Amino acid sequence: MTSPEPTAGLTFPPDFRWGAATSAYQIEGAVHADGRSPSIWDTYAQIPGKILGGESGEVACDHYHRWPQDLDLMAAMQLNAYRFSVAWPRVIPQGTGAANVAGLDFYDRLVDGALERGLEPHVTLYHWDLPQVLEDQGGWANPDIPQWFAEYALAVYGRLGDRVASYATFNEPWCTAELGYHAGRHAPGLRDLRTSLKASYHIQLAHGQAIQALRQQNTGAELGTVLNLYPVDAATEADRETAILIDEKINRWYLDPIFRGTFPERAWAHYGDAVPDIDPSALAAVCQPLDFLGVNYYFRQWVRGNEVLRSGPPDMALERTAMDWEIYPQGLHRLLTDLHRHYPAPKYLITENGAAFDDVLVGGQVHDPSRTRFMQSHLAELHRAIQDGVPVSGYFAWSLLDNYEWAFGYSKRFGIVHVDYATQTRTLKDSAKWYANFVRSQRG
Ligand code: FCB
Repeated sequence: MTSPEPTAGLTFPPDFRWGAATSAYQIEGAVHADGRSPSIWDTYAQIPGKILGGESGEVACDHYHRWPQDLDLMAAMQLNAYRFSVAWPRVIPQGTGAANVAGLDFYDRLVDGALERGLEPHVTLYHWDLPQVLEDQGGWANPDIPQWFAEYALAVYGRLGDRVASYATFNEPWCTAELGYHAGRHAPGLRDLRTSLKASYHIQLAHGQAIQALRQQNTGAELGTVLNLYPVDAATEADRETAILIDEKINRWYLDPIFRGTFPERAWAHYGDAVPDIDPSALAAVCQPLDFLGVNYYFRQWVRGNEVLRSGPPDMALERTAMDWEIYPQGLHRLLTDLHRHYPAPKYLITENGAAFDDVLVGGQVHDPSRTRFMQSHLAELHRAIQDGVPVSGYFAWSLLDNYEWAFGYSKRFGIVHVDYATQTRTLKDSAKWYANFVRSQRG
């Protein structure tokens, strides 16, 4: 006998946003179209050994040309919201200065197309594809970049304006600073702690400046940002102190400046003289009133000895995805109730949640019961958080489509819609059909 669906009988708030999420470099392709300049990912993907299979986003899901069909898919699924990112190298190919009308035209069409189909557009301004010309000047480590970013944000706003429901400044700044400038696992592939901390500081400043600039436009769109957050657990009693430090390094290094205008003390002390020179008044200005915080939730972090184990202790019998990430739905409830207590925002959006599995397309179908189960169990925990008083107003499945999973190339399939990369055929997986039914029942 199968156990009942964890979501059976649950009712979400009537105005809840049900969506799917994507990002520009992961789906658009068309990297040379209409005046787009190379991004750091175009460059990085060419370095031998950096990407599994040596793959790049050159074609990806060809969403740049197939966007009407992709929007149709979401409309057919009854979704009422779509989260996507804008590519800076399309909008301002030189990084600073003149905006590229043809690049903005694409997002203009996309926004109108979404609205026509009853999909609320939710825009992320930066999802990792920095113009290479800016990286050539130091990228996020350059002290001028907050200003460049604020100008870019205004260029996007100037064209898309209030047709967009929300603007998020950044997607997962920890990934940019840590994976890009310290661990060397993402573009631009640097391995330098000092540079990485400088980058994290400049991202914070850029967030604050862009929010201020957008606020001055009296925009009706909601303003916020998107963080990757994790409950952090100690594997043994002896790991407790380290777990607190890791929580500060990954979660609070970003939450504290945004919500309090400070950096967390332990992590600060731990980094010692690697921390950049801080201008206290500039740091204080990072803390701007936000309309929402976007939460990307995938798994928890386990700490054992000096290691951070994203798959959990290997000797523990945990359920894991194809990324080897632990499946831990309760973490979403923990995270949200904890955020609500310590970092209160007017509202939270689950801007990403999902899983990769080894999907196979057989006879025009993809049976992915693990993904359906993943969504059900996480939505049940999300519902529990809402019941407990956390103001969550939307959920975006990561991802609408199978896509370019960064250093993993096309090997990891996160989509609720399957993509056959040889033919660009889209096929709704069983999980997408389940989600569509569930959303339909919620929307009445
Ligand atoms: C997040 C990223 C997103 C995707 C998912 C799996 O960290 O924001 O682009 O790669 O993970």
